[in-house]
Amino acid sequence: MTATVVLGLAWGDEGKGRVCDALAADSSYVARYSGGNNAGHTIRVGEEEFVVHLLPSGTVREGVVCTIGNGVVVSPEVLAEEVGSLEKRGFTDVRQRLKLDGRAHVIMPYHVALDRERESSLENDKLGTTNRGIGPCYEDKAARVGIRVQDVFDEKALREKLSRALSEKNCLFENVYGAEPYDADELVQWLSGYRELMEPMVADTGMILRDGLRDHQPVLLEGAQAALLDNDHGTYPFVTSSNPCIGGAITGAGIPPQEIGDVIGVTKAYATRVGDGPFPTELFDEVGETLADVGHEYGATTGRKRRCGWLDMVSTKYTAALNGVTQIALTKLDVLSAVEEIQVCVGYEVRGERVEGYPMSQTDLHDVTPVYKTLPGWGEDIAHCRMRGDLPEAARDFVEFVESEVGAPLCMISVGPERDQAIVEKPGA
Ligand code: GDP
Ligand code: IMO
Ligand code: MG
Repeated sequence: MTATVVLGLAWGDEGKGRVCDALAADSSYVARYSGGNNAGHTIRVGEEEFVVHLLPSGTVREGVVCTIGNGVVVSPEVLAEEVGSLEKRGFTDVRQRLKLDGRAHVIMPYHVALDRERESSLENDKLGTTNRGIGPCYEDKAARVGIRVQDVFDEKALREKLSRALSEKNCLFENVYGAEPYDADELVQWLSGYRELMEPMVADTGMILRDGLRDHQPVLLEGAQAALLDNDHGTYPFVTSSNPCIGGAITGAGIPPQEIGDVIGVTKAYATRVGDGPFPTELFDEVGETLADVGHEYGATTGRKRRCGWLDMVSTKYTAALNGVTQIALTKLDVLSAVEEIQVCVGYEVRGERVEGYPMSQTDLHDVTPVYKTLPGWGEDIAHCRMRGDLPEAARDFVEFVESEVGAPLCMISVGPERDQAIVEKPGA
């Protein structure tokens, strides 16, 4: 048995939550491997909506063991909130099913404050972060002054580590941002308030997954953010501070590469981006407004309106190749029912010249003019379709076009937000 990875092919919010929820039904383990509560993964079950930010989507499936891997950054407050909220909604065994890696880093209040101070000081050059302290927490991890989950249980080490981290941080707060400094004792006190919640969850989650794979248990690795937000491969500097791509899955979950089986790339039938940065196919007209309205394109984490545009096959082919995508999940096809004609970007021109592949240069990315192929719309409701053959011909053509451009088969076409509103296919079966 190998692990299946689900990851986003664009700038996030592709519908990874609903895809993972569907796959969780047949998984023993669902693991988050990167990012933190900058994510917002939505699962609709009938009239009920669940949005998880830190916990894996598998938490809303009874019996599934869920792991928060070493590559994740953990807000203790959000951990407590999400566990509490799921318990209130009937998932009474969530604490027993949730495992938290002792190597995962903790998002401290000063990380959140630093994220906010930096963003507000950037004025017109903001990155548009989620202000959840993600960047500063990963910075401390790389700088080797981070606080890890295991430190919560060793007060002496915690105090020493905090003093070291704060000696620099407080200089920044006081001298650069004119803000209040942080006190190590208060932070120790604050963290100790989460000890009881965390203690039974702490585990070597990589070992749990490796043991599960050895015992032929199905494992699902749930990507957060997405390939174009990857710190190495995305639209830097308008990216997050982790590696949502396939490499991050291996590092952040703690399993070897040969254990990876299918890599499912999730893409919407159009494109969205929340936050700043280049977006070649962005629409500024009423078609963009229609996509935002019909697709309810408001961020699941910050509530910000998502920028909308046409599906970009240049970037999708790049991210699919980069991650070795073996299957595609195409989401929100129903939203395209609202537009008369569909454009798909099939090439880039940079300053009048056609370019091959995805530009490496940031300047080029900002100067891209998309080359479009126009496809006919279908203009009818498709929310009831459960087989590819139920789709109108133009929708089938669109789906086949995406499949052939990416060069990987579709395993899921979603036609509405609810759990059952999807066409599920088994490539190769
Ligand atoms: P994630 O971050 O990739 O998990 O995606 P989000 O949950 O942030 O955003 C996806 C949004 O689209 C959520 O509100 C979902 O309920 C919704 N959604 C997912 N699939 C579909 C679909 O096929 N059709 C429609 N109309 N909405 C969908
Ligand atoms: P899911 O998992 C969409 C974006 C932010 C910002 C950039 C950096 O729901 O797809 P950060 O707070 O990570 O330092 O912000 O990344 N971003 C997301 N956009 N979906 C997400 O997660 C995102 N996580 C981060 O908007 O542009
Ligand atoms: Mg989201």
